[in-house]
Amino acid sequence: MRKKVSIVGAGNVGATAAHWIASKELADVVLIDVVEGVPQGKALDLAEAMPIEKRDVHVTGANDYAATANSDIVVITAGIPRKPGMSRDDLLNTNFKIMSDVVQKVVAQSPESILIIVSNPLDAMAQAAFRQAGFNRERVIGMAGVLDSARFRTFIAEELSVSVENVTAFVLGGHGDTMVPLPRYSTVAGIPITELIAPERLEQLVQRTRDGGAEIVKHLKTGSAYYAPSAATVEMVEAILKDKKKILPCAAYLEGEYGINGYYIGVPCKLGAAGIEQIVEIKLTAEEDAALKKSAESVKELCAVIGV
Ligand code: NAI
Ligand code: 2OP
Repeated sequence: MRKKVSIVGAGNVGATAAHWIASKELADVVLIDVVEGVPQGKALDLAEAMPIEKRDVHVTGANDYAATANSDIVVITAGIPRKPGMSRDDLLNTNFKIMSDVVQKVVAQSPESILIIVSNPLDAMAQAAFRQAGFNRERVIGMAGVLDSARFRTFIAEELSVSVENVTAFVLGGHGDTMVPLPRYSTVAGIPITELIAPERLEQLVQRTRDGGAEIVKHLKTGSAYYAPSAATVEMVEAILKDKKKILPCAAYLEGEYGINGYYIGVPCKLGAAGIEQIVEIKLTAEEDAALKKSAESVKELCAVIGV
């Protein structure tokens, strides 16, 4: 039987994620939105591309959550994106209300699903979804690290004029100004980038990664990034649907790992059919550990504001 992925929020990230899923023929897709006509129209348009792309995928759109029943994965992108001058944290209260409402409806229809949370501020929204869903932590996962690492990989590949396929990178921590890129664990064909790029230049690439979301918002003016965010989300979807046991940086609810307890933060996770099948603990330097703890503190502050 075909897998089913529902995507709540048929805006830029949601609709583009549907596009990637359909083009990779990963699953049937249901798009959901509060705005009438938008999920239906985008879904029909995408469905009509399938004969051209030679993909047997059903893509449908609806406003009623009944259409999402028994999804294997539900991706939640519902909410408002930031505009120039706004931080991700400025979205907190509005998106919290939306997240609570959406998760309640999703869980009623798909109690066995795995949730991938995308809405910002990411770590606090993942925490809100986890509390609301009542699922075990393996089944509520936040998307941010794959995106932040992809941005870092892009900048490293450009800097060294090498294939993006040669570059691996890890960005941990919260999806915000306190994110923690780890140059020590970032490589080009296995060679640590610390041996290939001078420290001052590397620091510039790290800072550009931290500002990666804002750089796009500044260009677009009316919204935020969506091609790379949706591709990052679909890499997680694919790892779960295909039970790949792939290690990716994801926001996970920590219960003592990395010395953090009771909060979502970006760490390396093994993704497979059960969702997060392992949280991988890597050795951090004192400086990296302090940066991760600082990042967790800022997630904690946001969670306190919304009481999750
Ligand atoms: P968008 O504005 O294009 O789409 C959001 C959609 O959510 C809209 O179609 C809107 O009608 C819908 N929506 C609002 N309230 C809803 C509700 N109660 N139920 C169902 N749908 C609802 O925004 P975009 O660019 O798609 O971004 C979506 C979210 O993802 C934003 O919060 C953004 O900040 C976040 N984001 C997170 C990233 C990450 O790395 N975690 C990366 C990129 C975006
Ligand atoms: C990004 O990093 C807005 O969080 C989104 O592009």
